[in-house]
Amino acid sequence: MDIQELDTTDPAALRAWHEVMEQAVRADRPHALLATYEAFEVTATAPSTYYSRTWLQAVEGAEVVGVAELELPLQENLDVGWCEVSVLPQHRRRGVGRALWDAVAERGHADGRTRLGGEVSVDLAVAGAGYAFATALGAVEKHHEDHLLADLPVTSTAIDPAYELVAWQGRCPDEHRAAYLAMRNQMNADVPTGELDLEAEVLDDARLASSEERLMKAYDVRVAAARRRSDGVFGGYSLLFVPHGADYGWQDDTLVMPEHRGHRLGAALKSANYAGLPATITSVHTWTDPQNTAMHHTNTALGFRVVEHMYEVEAVIA
Ligand SMILES: CC(C)(COP(=O)(O)OP(=O)(O)OC[C@H]1O[C@@H](n2cnc3c(N)ncnc32)[C@H](O)[C@@H]1OP(=O)(O)O)[C@@H](O)C(=O)NCCC(=O)NCCS
Repeated sequence: MDIQELDTTDPAALRAWHEVMEQAVRADRPHALLATYEAFEVTATAPSTYYSRTWLQAVEGAEVVGVAELELPLQENLDVGWCEVSVLPQHRRRGVGRALWDAVAERGHADGRTRLGGEVSVDLAVAGAGYAFATALGAVEKHHEDHLLADLPVTSTAIDPAYELVAWQGRCPDEHRAAYLAMRNQMNADVPTGELDLEAEVLDDARLASSEERLMKAYDVRVAAARRRSDGVFGGYSLLFVPHGADYGWQDDTLVMPEHRGHRLGAALKSANYAGLPATITSVHTWTDPQNTAMHHTNTALGFRVVEHMYEVEAVIA
């Protein structure tokens, strides 16, 4: 077996890598939310200024039997790397996963990283190998969240009359950018991360613009925000991605700023985003810390149900 770096200029190799990733993950995780081929292609062929990424594959003969991805943040968290390893079911328990892990750890170490983190998701009904694998490699749990799924349409929640809905698709309009950036940075600073020792990502206008531009190549990006009528102050936002061509959405951040809590703005903003979706979108995924009772309750009241437990794990590679 040979561990190779994926040649991101070769479209057939990109396809094969993505197909193996999809098959390997789906075997254990029927509800997994995976990058579509289009989203993967954008990430793999248009390097980001803020993250360096490497894709590896384990090859036997001419067959790709396992794949891995390594992501190194370049702006903050310079001691950390993140990785994901997936092996086709028929090739498991033969050391392929460990060989891929060793290869990502070697690359992370060579770049000065001392910790390697990853997400391990465990289906509620299917016994997967991910957690035992991560533990065998010395990774320990630092944080966990529930992965929830809702079928659309969900119960709709009207926005509190003291607020008006401000919604956009794609790039945030210039007149809202300062308020939106402040909320995005508040979210990054506030989001619960358990024992994960990470610096919050700080967005400025250039970084937001770069993220919007990249995301829009593969996703329909929708934002619903609430603005208080009395003084025009923004109280919260909710961010939703719909991969091009997919029949599902992916609920990203929802934040209600501290002084605006207690008005059910979270539920109203989410449901406003879902109500605006075309009828072809039939479900939405989200992740919530089960200890974040307000958000967990908002989600289950909207119709979300837990389908997986997601563990953020980390190993020391110094
Ligand atoms: C997890 C996964 C990558 C393991 O791949 P693999 O090639 O079978 O892994 P290895 O053969 O190198 O196993 C390394 C060690 O992990 C542990 N392990 C792996 N699968 C296990 C299982 N099903 N049960 C218990 N331990 C397991 C063992 O300690 C194993 O060493 P051993 O075989 O000497 O006992 C593979 O099962 C997979 O792709 N699962 C779906 C995706 C996923 O969950 N990835 C992990 C998130 S990063």
